[in-house]
Amino acid sequence: MTILVTGATGNIGRMLVDHLLAAGRTDVRALTNHPERARLPAGVEIAEGFLGRVNSLPDALVGVDQIYLAPYPSTIEPVLELARNAGVRHVVDLAGPPENWWNPISVAVERSGMHWTHLWPGEFMENSTMWAEQIIESDCVREPFPDAANAPIAMEDIAAAAAAVLIDEESHHGRAHILTGPETLTRTELLDRISTALGRPLTFETVSRQETIDDLTPSMGDFAITYVDGLESSVDNPQPVDGTLVDITGTATTFMQWAQRNVDSFR
Ligand SMILES: NC(=O)c1ccc[n+]([C@@H]2O[C@H](COP(=O)([O-])OP(=O)(O)OC[C@H]3O[C@@H](n4cnc5c(N)ncnc54)[C@H](OP(=O)(O)O)[C@@H]3O)[C@@H](O)[C@H]2O)c1
Repeated sequence: MTILVTGATGNIGRMLVDHLLAAGRTDVRALTNHPERARLPAGVEIAEGFLGRVNSLPDALVGVDQIYLAPYPSTIEPVLELARNAGVRHVVDLAGPPENWWNPISVAVERSGMHWTHLWPGEFMENSTMWAEQIIESDCVREPFPDAANAPIAMEDIAAAAAAVLIDEESHHGRAHILTGPETLTRTELLDRISTALGRPLTFETVSRQETIDDLTPSMGDFAITYVDGLESSVDNPQPVDGTLVDITGTATTFMQWAQRNVDSFR
């Protein structure tokens, strides 16, 4: 009954491993390119491999019953074929709804013939760390849409939801879980909370759409345009809060809580 956690040294994968161990699971296998420096906890079986290196997967998949599928679209088809042939029954994929950049992963998972549960988070709270450099250098954030609004979720909460789905799997088969945080907040409201956590005033400066795309492209590539388009569309269509996360895990981190826990990222 092994659970394979892919991307196990990534943010969500690593926290998922911790949640599964805390729940008493002794059948967790973690996939990493670098077992020697992965620093995974005792009690986890480590498998060398990566979703992007398909030929590394057959050994890692032996005896696997369920898989947490980290988002890696380019090899999704052969990865799923190997998983199905290895006898995997249930795939929990981190992706997004039909209009989302990550949705092709969920489409492929649904076609794979295995049971599936989609985790479809919105904006991550951690995405606000893209402001860290500007805040540290100038106490100011420059973006085009101060009233863009979404309901960001903490990665920790996504990991908790993934663990709950893997542990109580059958009630989640065939379900796509929209995962949001507990409040819809504008960009200026997010910045206010970071300001409160830091204990000093921060300002929001409205700049052109193109300026922000140019700033983000070195780190995001083509996704920078998609990201800024998403911000723009959320001005008139703020992302609503969805209660699924609380239904699954019983709790949802607020952005204020997240900012207080992660305030050092902005110092
Ligand atoms: N709504 C949203 O914003 C949304 C929705 C769905 C997905 N996502 C995406 O979900 C991801 C979650 O990130 P995460 O931090 O939990 O990590 P992840 O992408 O799930 O896993 C990262 C791990 O995979 C391995 N890896 C090796 N080469 C890689 C490569 N070329 N690309 C990616 N991973 C590689 C690395 O581990 P080893 O070196 O140990 O092998 C790394 O620690 C983000 O990329 C995010 O953009 C976002």
